[in-house]
Amino acid sequence: MSIKDIRILLIVAGGIAAYKCPDLVRRLRERGARARCILTSAGAEFVTPLSLAAVSEDKVYTELFSLTDESEMGHIRLSREADLVVVAPATADLLARMAAGMANDLATTALLATDKPVLAAPAMNVRMWEHPATQANLRTLIERGVQVVGPGEGDMACGEWGMGRMAEPLEIVAAIEAVFARRGRLRGVRALVTSGPTWEPIDPVRFIANRSSGRQGHAIAGSLARAGAATTLVTGPTHLADPPAVQVIRIETAREMLAACRESLPVDVAVCAAAVGDWHVSAPAMQKLKKERGGLPTLALEENPDVLATLAAAGNSRPTLVIGFAAETENVVDNAVRKRRSKGCDWILANDVSPDTGTFGGDRTTIHLVTGDGVEDWPRMTKVDVAERLTDRVADALGRPPAQAQ
Ligand code: CTP
Repeated sequence: MSIKDIRILLIVAGGIAAYKCPDLVRRLRERGARARCILTSAGAEFVTPLSLAAVSEDKVYTELFSLTDESEMGHIRLSREADLVVVAPATADLLARMAAGMANDLATTALLATDKPVLAAPAMNVRMWEHPATQANLRTLIERGVQVVGPGEGDMACGEWGMGRMAEPLEIVAAIEAVFARRGRLRGVRALVTSGPTWEPIDPVRFIANRSSGRQGHAIAGSLARAGAATTLVTGPTHLADPPAVQVIRIETAREMLAACRESLPVDVAVCAAAVGDWHVSAPAMQKLKKERGGLPTLALEENPDVLATLAAAGNSRPTLVIGFAAETENVVDNAVRKRRSKGCDWILANDVSPDTGTFGGDRTTIHLVTGDGVEDWPRMTKVDVAERLTDRVADALGRPPAQAQ
């Protein structure tokens, strides 16, 4: 994908990996992209403004309160006059400040002011990377639409080994190319995504639910929207932020989910990622069930409607592409192949949700894509990467050429 004439604002923070940034700028310029750099004061300890200025053939911006910079180019304009903001290396400190919405230097001010997509290439020591604070910050940023490339595994400058190495310049270039290849690819396409668990009431305070976090469905809705699809997300209760540029409809029960999905038709593609409860209580109690009213309560259950199967059998309103998930704990692929047939959908993304896989509620998953043509095993990857890959596959299936080739 060509990134010729694309304007990149590269924010270089203070990590040893900053030494790779002049090479990154050089690779971008080789492809005809323009790169303008903001260098944090910590970043300037690792790479000089002069070397970045030389390779970018542009001024390097370093100070928030430099009066000359502000009069020549305000920090707001700096962040807006770019097609993409790339943060490399995205240090633990900068990710934390981004997640907190701080604006205490030029880098964070530009990041807070930008209305452009942001791609972060994290780089830090493995323990800093694994720290729950860093992981929580990263999740927050991803929920808000920040895209991430890397980090990779390997030897670290500090002598340790593990996750935390910044992606190589060519990997970052590939991720930038993918952002633009996807952008606008689904313009004119209508998408519907279900996400999260359902809550089936037992009485006014209790309900039957499941462990779904909604991460996968929300990531898919965000990715489809970034690719330009007019996206509706019908979601059960989650702790996640609404993905940017997505119309969100909140429901609690499976029957409400089905009604909201029906109202959202017609769409071109439907992705059912929700962990829909299979049953609801036939007659939820109007008042809180009390222990002293004698004996253990008996819950009579009724089967819930199947949202995926209903969409797949919607006759004239059937989306062109109906995609489901299969959450399995054994015989993952065989069950998924059967589920694809029994539900009448086009594709099933099967994943193993046994407790030891950490898939339910976790960040990573291993997908087996079951289509009419067979089974494709995807490597273990983040749910966000699954979402991006699925978006590409949807665009391919709908015959949508990459953005700049249209
Ligand atoms: N699904 C749905 N409505 C339901 C149940 C499931 O839309 N009432 C969808 C899910 O969103 C998912 C697919 O069907 O895309 C498979 O869900 P899964 O929980 O794996 O399977 P179930 O149909 O619930 O079957 P089982 O619990 O027997 O494995």
